[in-house]
Amino acid sequence: MTQGYCFVVNEHHDVPWSELRALARDATTRSYAPYSHVRVGAAALTTSGAFVVGSNIENASYGLTLCAECSLVSDLVRQGGGRLAALAVVAGDGEPIAPCGRCRQVLFEHAGASLLIDQGEEAATLTLGDLLPHAFGPDDLPTRSTP
Ligand code: THU
Repeated sequence: MTQGYCFVVNEHHDVPWSELRALARDATTRSYAPYSHVRVGAAALTTSGAFVVGSNIENASYGLTLCAECSLVSDLVRQGGGRLAALAVVAGDGEPIAPCGRCRQVLFEHAGASLLIDQGEEAATLTLGDLLPHAFGPDDLPTRSTP
């Protein structure tokens, strides 16, 4: 995990978006996508200022494919964990790609609704709460379990 920014990230203007986009684009070059040929790269900044990255990893059994965001969460946990504050996901053309539904849920566990998600230089940033409203998450488990 690369330490780069040692401040709390909770506003759009706190985020080094160009650097995140560059890391995500670089991650597309290490994607394994021999079936769809859709290379995806993801890069995120944690609330403690660390960068994590991921690339999609496909499989001959297509349904077992790992999305770039899942790979990024693996990177996060493997390197000590933390909370994701800002995320950029791009396809091989370098342009933003929307996190799929499963990835929205996976990201929610490690970020919550406040995660800032890049929409490119020209568009306003969205939050994970925008993409996954009324999410089910870890806080729901203690109150909803029955003996
Ligand atoms: N993909 C991701 O990596 N992330 C997403 O959020 C959307 C889809 C990948 C999975 C597969 O390798 C390729 O894009 C085409 O679906």
